[in-house]
Amino acid sequence: MTPINEVIINKKTNINPVWIMRQAGRYLPEFREIRKKNSDFIKLCLNENLASEVTLQPLKRFDLDAAIIFSDILMIPYGLNQKVEFKKNFGPVLGDFKLDEASRLDEVDFVQKIYPIYKAIKSVSNNSLTDNKNTIGFVGAPWTLLVYIINKQSPKLNLKKDFFKDNFLINRILSLLDKFLKIHIKNQIDNGAEIIQIFDSWAGLLKDKIPEYIYIPTLNIVEYVKELGVPVICFPRGIKDYKNFCDIVKPDAINIDYHVDPKKIVNEIKIPIQGGLDPKILLTDQKTLRTEVEKYLSIFKDHPYVFNLGHGILPETKIEMVEVLIDIVRNFK
Ligand code: CP3
Repeated sequence: MTPINEVIINKKTNINPVWIMRQAGRYLPEFREIRKKNSDFIKLCLNENLASEVTLQPLKRFDLDAAIIFSDILMIPYGLNQKVEFKKNFGPVLGDFKLDEASRLDEVDFVQKIYPIYKAIKSVSNNSLTDNKNTIGFVGAPWTLLVYIINKQSPKLNLKKDFFKDNFLINRILSLLDKFLKIHIKNQIDNGAEIIQIFDSWAGLLKDKIPEYIYIPTLNIVEYVKELGVPVICFPRGIKDYKNFCDIVKPDAINIDYHVDPKKIVNEIKIPIQGGLDPKILLTDQKTLRTEVEKYLSIFKDHPYVFNLGHGILPETKIEMVEVLIDIVRNFK
């Protein structure tokens, strides 16, 4: 069994597997090299060979326990025929969501539009670099995708006042997301994804109606992944009550963000935990890094724990600091 499965399925506490959110990305010179020649990010995600090459780049450099497929949560709105672009130094910019068009879309059209993602997953999972490691597939949670679809860009600190004004539209979008997220997950698993992580990056924006927009839609997806026999990790970033989330949604493992107090959570949550370290710690010095990494490893010493960060690795991160981080995790006693 792979180290991550030993922790998530067998609840082993004497090993700490490690992978890094956004491990294939702009902090890697070899990624920037490929990115320079491929200015269209969506096209890069849909280039089977390049997507698989980029996914494997961090595994060639570092002793990691998983490959996470190089793609994006916004490939779902893209597959639903919403325009998606990535503007430099700004982030994603989406076009208007056309409900009628998306409602007419069938499974075959959708899958065809993003098919290279599945081929890339297959090629990654068949590559010897992923032997005894997990190939992780992922999706955005319904709530976070709804935010992007309606808001058409990252919401920063707050939702617009009129975000909820069209209840019919919101419910239609959530129902489409439920259908197409399941299709996307099934295809990832059929092509070699062995774990699914659900990113709910904007969970923290919601102050009320959390059951309606987060618990219930996420639970539907989590139960579907479980039916397919694959472990599912949830990352409801910024959610106020991680314990309540776990009690209701019951993922196989939970990724915590860096605002979560690890000492408190370790007593509250029984399921395997992943992540937590503030990615900004990687921008400090080796001594601080060691102190902070060892803090997490000590607190989770007797708890099933997969080492990771509390959000994606920052583009400014030095390669050497990632090497040191993995070395600290591997040699922790
Ligand atoms: O983790 C990995 O290495 C796998 C690949 C991955 C990407 N995006 C590649 C990417 C994953 C898992 C994601 C998830 C994703 N995408 C999330 C959830 C996680 C999170 O960060 O909260 C979100 C909210 C998105 C939407 C998105 N995609 C944003 C907001 C941005 C711009 C952010 C930025 O750093 O500029 C992206 C672009 C993106 N997705 C990049 C990468 C490597 C950077 C693109 C570039 O090279 O310019």
